[in-house]
Amino acid sequence: MSEIHEICNDWKSFSIKIVQESDIPRIKTYLTSNFHLDEPVGQKLPQDDEFIEHTNEKMGLLLSKHQGLSLMAVDQKSRDIAGVQLMFIWKKEDAELEKAHLTGRLNSDSETPPAAIFRQRKVMNAMYAPMKKTQLGLFDTYKVEEIGWNFVASTGRSYRGQGLASELSRRMILLLQSTKVKLTFSMFTSPFSRRCATRNGFVEIDRCHWSEALDEDGKAVMPDAHGPEDFVALMILKL
Ligand SMILES: CC(C)(COP(=O)(O)OP(=O)(O)OC[C@H]1O[C@@H](n2cnc3c(N)ncnc32)[C@H](O)[C@@H]1OP(=O)(O)O)[C@@H](O)C(=O)NCCC(=O)NCCS
Repeated sequence: MSEIHEICNDWKSFSIKIVQESDIPRIKTYLTSNFHLDEPVGQKLPQDDEFIEHTNEKMGLLLSKHQGLSLMAVDQKSRDIAGVQLMFIWKKEDAELEKAHLTGRLNSDSETPPAAIFRQRKVMNAMYAPMKKTQLGLFDTYKVEEIGWNFVASTGRSYRGQGLASELSRRMILLLQSTKVKLTFSMFTSPFSRRCATRNGFVEIDRCHWSEALDEDGKAVMPDAHGPEDFVALMILKL
Protein backbone atom coordinates (compact mmCIF):
# COMPACT_ATOMS: atom_id res chain seq x y z
CA MET A 1 0.00 0.00 0.00
CA SER A 2 1.31 3.47 -0.89
CA GLU A 3 2.25 5.97 1.76
CA ILE A 4 0.73 9.41 1.40
CA HIS A 5 4.17 11.01 0.88
CA GLU A 6 4.60 8.84 -2.25
CA ILE A 7 1.40 10.39 -3.65
CA CYS A 8 1.78 13.97 -2.43
CA ASN A 9 5.22 15.24 -3.32
CA ASP A 10 6.98 17.17 -6.06
CA TRP A 11 6.94 15.91 -9.63
CA LYS A 12 8.74 17.80 -12.42
CA SER A 13 7.97 21.47 -11.70
CA PHE A 14 4.73 20.73 -9.85
CA SER A 15 3.68 20.09 -6.27
CA ILE A 16 1.05 17.39 -6.11
CA LYS A 17 -1.39 17.49 -3.23
CA ILE A 18 -4.77 16.29 -2.07
CA VAL A 19 -7.56 18.79 -2.70
CA GLN A 20 -8.71 20.47 0.53
CA GLU A 21 -11.98 22.27 1.24
CA SER A 22 -10.12 25.60 1.06
CA ASP A 23 -8.97 24.78 -2.53
CA ILE A 24 -12.53 24.41 -3.86
CA PRO A 25 -13.17 28.06 -4.82
CA ARG A 26 -10.01 28.28 -6.92
CA ILE A 27 -10.63 24.86 -8.45
CA LYS A 28 -13.98 26.20 -9.69
CA THR A 29 -12.21 29.20 -11.24
CA TYR A 30 -9.62 26.86 -12.77
CA LEU A 31 -12.35 24.63 -14.28
CA THR A 32 -14.05 27.64 -15.83
CA SER A 33 -10.86 28.64 -17.69
CA ASN A 34 -9.41 25.21 -18.41
CA PHE A 35 -12.00 22.47 -18.45
CA HIS A 36 -15.62 23.09 -19.41
CA LEU A 37 -14.93 24.76 -22.74
CA ASP A 38 -11.96 22.51 -23.63
CA GLU A 39 -13.48 19.12 -22.92
CA PRO A 40 -14.44 17.72 -26.35
CA VAL A 41 -18.21 17.68 -25.76
CA GLY A 42 -18.15 21.11 -24.09
CA GLN A 43 -16.29 22.42 -27.15
CA LYS A 44 -19.19 21.46 -29.37
CA LEU A 45 -21.91 22.96 -27.17
CA PRO A 46 -22.97 26.61 -27.02
CA GLN A 47 -21.09 28.53 -24.32
CA ASP A 48 -23.27 29.36 -21.36
CA ASP A 49 -21.91 31.00 -18.20
CA GLU A 50 -24.96 29.99 -16.20
CA PHE A 51 -24.49 26.31 -17.07
CA ILE A 52 -20.80 26.46 -16.20
CA GLU A 53 -21.54 28.12 -12.88
CA HIS A 54 -24.22 25.52 -12.13
CA THR A 55 -21.83 22.65 -13.00
CA ASN A 56 -19.03 24.18 -10.90
CA GLU A 57 -21.43 24.46 -7.97
CA LYS A 58 -22.32 20.77 -8.26
CA MET A 59 -18.68 19.75 -8.61
CA GLY A 60 -17.72 21.88 -5.59
CA LEU A 61 -20.37 20.14 -3.50
CA LEU A 62 -19.09 16.73 -4.57
CA LEU A 63 -15.54 17.71 -3.62
CA SER A 64 -16.69 19.03 -0.28
CA LYS A 65 -18.66 15.87 0.51
CA HIS A 66 -16.00 13.41 -0.68
CA GLN A 67 -12.78 14.84 0.65
CA GLY A 68 -9.40 13.14 0.54
CA LEU A 69 -9.81 11.47 -2.88
CA SER A 70 -9.02 14.20 -5.42
CA LEU A 71 -5.62 15.46 -6.46
CA MET A 72 -4.31 18.75 -7.81
CA ALA A 73 -0.95 19.80 -9.22
CA VAL A 74 0.33 23.28 -8.47
CA ASP A 75 2.99 25.05 -10.53
CA GLN A 76 5.84 25.55 -8.04
CA LYS A 77 6.79 28.91 -9.54
CA SER A 78 3.50 30.65 -10.24
CA ARG A 79 1.43 28.72 -7.63
CA ASP A 80 -1.26 28.35 -10.31
CA ILE A 81 -3.25 25.14 -10.52
CA ALA A 82 -1.74 23.11 -13.36
CA GLY A 83 -4.08 20.12 -13.32
CA VAL A 84 -6.66 18.18 -11.36
CA GLN A 85 -8.09 14.68 -11.13
CA LEU A 86 -11.40 14.74 -9.28
CA MET A 87 -13.11 11.77 -7.69
CA PHE A 88 -16.18 10.97 -5.64
CA ILE A 89 -17.61 7.76 -4.22
CA TRP A 90 -20.73 6.57 -5.99
CA LYS A 91 -22.81 4.25 -3.84
CA LYS A 92 -24.99 1.33 -4.88
CA GLU A 93 -28.03 2.91 -3.17
CA ASP A 94 -27.60 6.05 -5.35
CA ALA A 95 -27.58 3.87 -8.46
CA GLU A 96 -30.68 1.99 -7.24
CA LEU A 97 -32.47 5.30 -6.77
CA GLU A 98 -31.50 6.39 -10.27
CA LYS A 99 -32.71 3.07 -11.70
CA ALA A 100 -36.04 3.54 -9.93
CA HIS A 101 -36.41 7.02 -11.42
CA LEU A 102 -35.57 5.67 -14.88
CA THR A 103 -38.19 2.96 -14.69
CA GLY A 104 -40.76 5.48 -13.45
CA ARG A 105 -41.30 3.81 -10.08
CA LEU A 106 -40.57 7.08 -8.32
CA ASN A 107 -42.03 10.39 -9.16
CA SER A 108 -40.40 12.66 -6.67
CA ASP A 109 -41.48 16.28 -6.41
CA SER A 110 -37.86 17.22 -5.91
CA GLU A 111 -36.93 16.12 -9.44
CA THR A 112 -35.86 18.98 -11.65
CA PRO A 113 -38.65 19.67 -14.14
CA PRO A 114 -37.38 18.68 -17.62
CA ALA A 115 -37.86 22.20 -18.99
CA ALA A 116 -35.45 23.53 -16.36
CA ILE A 117 -32.61 21.21 -17.40
CA PHE A 118 -29.93 23.00 -19.36
CA ARG A 119 -29.70 22.21 -23.07
CA GLN A 120 -26.04 21.22 -22.50
CA ARG A 121 -27.03 18.75 -19.79
CA LYS A 122 -29.68 17.24 -22.10
CA VAL A 123 -27.07 16.67 -24.80
CA MET A 124 -24.70 15.06 -22.32
CA ASN A 125 -27.50 12.91 -20.92
CA ALA A 126 -28.33 11.77 -24.46
CA MET A 127 -24.71 10.83 -25.03
CA TYR A 128 -24.45 8.81 -21.86
CA ALA A 129 -27.94 7.23 -22.14
CA PRO A 130 -26.89 4.24 -24.32
CA MET A 131 -24.34 3.32 -21.61
CA LYS A 132 -26.68 3.85 -18.66
CA LYS A 133 -27.50 0.15 -18.33
CA THR A 134 -23.81 -0.80 -18.24
CA GLN A 135 -23.05 2.04 -15.82
CA LEU A 136 -25.88 1.30 -13.39
CA GLY A 137 -25.07 -2.41 -13.69
CA LEU A 138 -21.46 -1.96 -12.52
CA PHE A 139 -22.38 -2.70 -8.89
CA ASP A 140 -23.89 -6.09 -9.72
CA THR A 141 -21.41 -6.97 -12.46
CA TYR A 142 -18.39 -6.38 -10.23
CA LYS A 143 -20.14 -7.19 -6.92
CA VAL A 144 -19.24 -3.94 -5.19
CA GLU A 145 -21.19 -1.56 -2.97
CA GLU A 146 -19.27 1.59 -3.90
CA ILE A 147 -17.30 2.82 -6.87
CA GLY A 148 -14.80 5.65 -7.30
CA TRP A 149 -16.13 7.93 -10.06
CA ASN A 150 -13.35 9.96 -11.68
CA PHE A 151 -15.57 12.83 -12.77
CA VAL A 152 -12.93 15.30 -14.00
CA ALA A 153 -9.54 14.77 -15.65
CA SER A 154 -7.99 18.08 -16.58
CA THR A 155 -4.64 19.70 -17.28
CA GLY A 156 -4.38 23.48 -17.52
CA ARG A 157 -4.04 24.95 -21.01
CA SER A 158 -0.38 25.87 -20.61
CA TYR A 159 0.68 22.55 -19.09
CA ARG A 160 -0.66 19.96 -21.52
CA GLY A 161 1.41 17.28 -23.24
CA GLN A 162 3.98 16.90 -20.42
CA GLY A 163 2.50 13.75 -18.90
CA LEU A 164 0.77 15.57 -16.04
CA ALA A 165 -2.68 13.98 -16.47
CA SER A 166 -1.11 10.52 -16.72
CA GLU A 167 0.88 11.13 -13.54
CA LEU A 168 -2.07 12.58 -11.60
CA SER A 169 -4.25 9.68 -12.72
CA ARG A 170 -1.59 7.16 -11.61
CA ARG A 171 -1.40 8.79 -8.18
CA MET A 172 -5.17 9.07 -7.88
CA ILE A 173 -5.36 5.30 -8.35
CA LEU A 174 -2.74 4.82 -5.59
CA LEU A 175 -4.80 7.07 -3.34
CA LEU A 176 -7.97 5.09 -4.03
CA GLN A 177 -6.10 1.84 -3.40
CA SER A 178 -5.48 3.06 0.14
CA THR A 179 -9.28 3.00 0.74
CA LYS A 180 -11.66 0.02 0.68
CA VAL A 181 -12.96 0.92 -2.79
CA LYS A 182 -12.36 -1.89 -5.31
CA LEU A 183 -13.47 -0.34 -8.58
CA THR A 184 -13.13 2.99 -10.35
CA PHE A 185 -14.54 4.23 -13.63
CA SER A 186 -14.97 7.26 -15.83
CA MET A 187 -16.70 8.39 -18.99
CA PHE A 188 -13.80 9.54 -21.14
CA THR A 189 -14.62 11.95 -23.96
CA SER A 190 -11.08 12.89 -24.97
CA PRO A 191 -8.67 10.65 -26.90
CA PHE A 192 -5.90 11.97 -24.63
CA SER A 193 -7.67 11.13 -21.38
CA ARG A 194 -8.44 7.68 -22.84
CA ARG A 195 -4.72 7.23 -23.48
CA CYS A 196 -3.88 8.27 -19.90
CA ALA A 197 -6.49 5.82 -18.65
CA THR A 198 -5.26 2.95 -20.83
CA ARG A 199 -1.68 3.64 -19.76
CA ASN A 200 -2.82 3.35 -16.13
CA GLY A 201 -4.69 0.07 -16.64
CA PHE A 202 -8.28 1.17 -17.35
CA VAL A 203 -10.20 -0.94 -19.86
CA GLU A 204 -13.11 0.13 -22.03
CA ILE A 205 -16.34 -1.77 -21.43
CA ASP A 206 -18.81 0.35 -23.42
CA ARG A 207 -18.89 3.33 -25.74
CA CYS A 208 -21.34 5.66 -27.45
CA HIS A 209 -20.56 7.41 -30.72
CA TRP A 210 -21.70 11.02 -30.59
CA SER A 211 -23.50 10.82 -33.91
CA GLU A 212 -25.72 8.03 -32.50
CA ALA A 213 -26.86 9.89 -29.37
CA LEU A 214 -30.58 10.72 -29.50
CA ASP A 215 -32.63 13.20 -27.47
CA GLU A 216 -36.05 12.48 -25.88
CA ASP A 217 -37.72 13.04 -29.26
CA GLY A 218 -35.42 10.56 -31.00
CA LYS A 219 -33.47 13.32 -32.76
CA ALA A 220 -29.70 13.06 -33.09
CA VAL A 221 -28.01 15.62 -30.81
CA MET A 222 -24.70 15.63 -32.73
CA PRO A 223 -25.53 14.27 -36.18
CA ASP A 224 -22.29 15.51 -37.75
CA ALA A 225 -19.84 14.15 -35.17
CA HIS A 226 -18.57 11.18 -37.18
CA GLY A 227 -14.84 11.46 -36.44
CA PRO A 228 -12.92 8.37 -35.32
CA GLU A 229 -12.45 9.88 -31.84
CA ASP A 230 -16.00 11.26 -31.56
CA PHE A 231 -17.20 8.89 -28.88
CA VAL A 232 -17.41 8.65 -25.13
CA ALA A 233 -15.95 5.52 -23.56
CA LEU A 234 -16.96 4.00 -20.25
CA MET A 235 -13.69 2.68 -18.85
CA ILE A 236 -13.13 0.82 -15.60
CA LEU A 237 -10.21 -0.22 -13.45
CA LYS A 238 -10.33 -2.93 -10.81
CA LEU A 239 -8.21 -1.82 -7.86
C1 LIG B 1 -7.13 15.30 -21.67
C2 LIG B 1 -6.09 16.04 -20.87
C3 LIG B 1 -6.47 15.97 -19.40
C4 LIG B 1 -4.73 15.36 -21.06
O1 LIG B 1 -3.80 16.03 -20.23
P1 LIG B 1 -2.22 16.01 -20.48
O2 LIG B 1 -1.58 16.36 -19.19
O3 LIG B 1 -1.88 16.81 -21.65
O4 LIG B 1 -2.01 14.45 -20.79
P2 LIG B 1 -0.64 13.66 -20.88
O5 LIG B 1 0.48 14.62 -21.17
O6 LIG B 1 -0.53 12.80 -19.68
O7 LIG B 1 -0.87 12.80 -22.19
C5 LIG B 1 -1.73 11.70 -22.22
C6 LIG B 1 -1.62 11.03 -23.57
O8 LIG B 1 -2.20 11.86 -24.57
C7 LIG B 1 -1.23 12.24 -25.53
N1 LIG B 1 -1.43 13.65 -25.85
C8 LIG B 1 -1.68 14.66 -24.97
N2 LIG B 1 -1.85 15.81 -25.64
C9 LIG B 1 -1.68 15.50 -26.95
C10 LIG B 1 -1.75 16.26 -28.15
N3 LIG B 1 -2.04 17.57 -28.14
N4 LIG B 1 -1.57 15.62 -29.34
C11 LIG B 1 -1.32 14.30 -29.38
N5 LIG B 1 -1.24 13.52 -28.26
C12 LIG B 1 -1.42 14.13 -27.08
C13 LIG B 1 0.13 12.01 -24.86
O9 LIG B 1 1.14 11.77 -25.80
C14 LIG B 1 -0.18 10.80 -24.01
O10 LIG B 1 -0.20 9.62 -24.82
P3 LIG B 1 0.70 8.33 -24.47
O11 LIG B 1 0.23 7.87 -23.12
O12 LIG B 1 0.37 7.39 -25.56
O13 LIG B 1 2.10 8.86 -24.44
C15 LIG B 1 -5.95 17.52 -21.33
O14 LIG B 1 -5.72 17.54 -22.73
C16 LIG B 1 -7.15 18.36 -21.03
O15 LIG B 1 -7.31 18.85 -19.91
N6 LIG B 1 -8.07 18.56 -22.02
C17 LIG B 1 -9.25 19.37 -21.85
C18 LIG B 1 -10.23 18.71 -20.87
C19 LIG B 1 -10.52 17.30 -21.25
O16 LIG B 1 -10.74 16.96 -22.39
N7 LIG B 1 -10.55 16.43 -20.21
C20 LIG B 1 -10.84 15.03 -20.37
C21 LIG B 1 -12.28 14.77 -20.49
S1 LIG B 1 -12.64 13.03 -20.35
